Amino acid sequence: MVVGSGGREHALAWAIRRSPRVERLWIAPGNAGTASVGENVDIMATDLAALVDFARRHRVDLTVIGPEAPLMAGIVDRFRDANRLCYGPTAAAARLEGSKAFAKEFMQRHRVPTAAFATFDDAARARAFARSLGAPVVIKADGLAAGKGVVIANDLDEADRAIDSMLLDHRFGEAGSRVVVEEFLRGEEVSVHAMCAGEQALVLPSSQDHKRAYDNDRGPNTGGMGAIAPVPWVDSQALQHVEHEIIRPVLAGMAADGTPFTGTLYAGLMWTADGPKVLEFNTRFGDPETQALMPLLVHGNDVCTLFEKAAAGEVPTGLVIPAMSAVAIVVASKGYPESAERDVEIRGLDHVDDARTMVFHAGTRCVDARVVTAGGRVLGVTAWSESLTDAARHAYAAAEKIHIDGAFYRSDIGRRHLT
Ligand code: AMP
Ligand code: GLY
Repeated sequence: MVVGSGGREHALAWAIRRSPRVERLWIAPGNAGTASVGENVDIMATDLAALVDFARRHRVDLTVIGPEAPLMAGIVDRFRDANRLCYGPTAAAARLEGSKAFAKEFMQRHRVPTAAFATFDDAARARAFARSLGAPVVIKADGLAAGKGVVIANDLDEADRAIDSMLLDHRFGEAGSRVVVEEFLRGEEVSVHAMCAGEQALVLPSSQDHKRAYDNDRGPNTGGMGAIAPVPWVDSQALQHVEHEIIRPVLAGMAADGTPFTGTLYAGLMWTADGPKVLEFNTRFGDPETQALMPLLVHGNDVCTLFEKAAAGEVPTGLVIPAMSAVAIVVASKGYPESAERDVEIRGLDHVDDARTMVFHAGTRCVDARVVTAGGRVLGVTAWSESLTDAARHAYAAAEKIHIDGAFYRSDIGRRHLT
């Protein structure tokens, strides 16, 4: 069973389904796309009791959790108590994502490279520390703030305003009752996912999200408007560097602290002149990154077995990484990210018939025989090929065949790497 309803979950379910070992596959709650790779189950991802109950009654051999909310609420702990195999971190391990202050203090203690920082609940002290770092400076709400809790302040006035809005005006509620003030890092952002079990890790190809809504990194921040995998200049040596300097120390630290990490560790990195430094951790697969990663992993690997082994405490060695690139383009509803027009018909899905292209569904649902929009990010149009250029060409050709009134997508996913 795959838990969640986005493009990430469609990509996970699609990859898992390709295993000859899968007899039945459920997605809870899923979307219009997941209904074509398995059976959707009408249970919300945050209804932990109902999910455990379903897994028990249907003897689900393996459950893979997509989104962060159920992880932080302890879904993996609940499945363990019920003796059902579940891939993901415990609530204690998911704090690496759930609390930025926890993650920063953890990195400091275990010497994982990250931006210089301090944590505050007092506004005057936070302001003084921001002055000691100088502008630009980064102010982050401690807790989850739906991607809006990070302010890159270009001058100290802006830093003061961000600190005050979080600590004094409680703009993010409880999530902003503590703030992290940190050094601004320069470089290129790269994401590295690792499937982990205790101190073992299987490092996956690098990937790169495109967070801003519009071309050339303009417009508001979003959940992600497109992704590529791998990032062309991140070679095996660079990936090994991330494994040895970041992934392994994190796993060793979590184990030493009595909260061993099992599941996907997603390191959001800034590749600075001094090497990679951690911007943030997620304790789950990224969305849309997963939509670019899964098409690579299904070539030569049984993805279901990877999840099963990791959930059982043993990460398999010898991942096959094909010499291929993937590009995922997110098609978003009119108004995204501020709002999202819903129930708009999606046309042309069956015109995409390229064997190296897959349209992953995110915010979609079926109404009779039609597929309509049901969220901000609607589709992840993904293609893979020997070169990034060719993958992008196929992905854009497919995206052009799909019509959703008012919808939009970025036309420059991966472009900075193309010659
Ligand atoms: P986070 O949620 O911590 O990943 O922050 C969101 C985005 O803010 C990141 O993807 C970066 O683009 C940017 N960011 C966060 N921290 C820093 C930093 N210390 N220096 C520069 N940019 C940052
Ligand atoms: N695409 C960023 C994330 O999944 O957090």
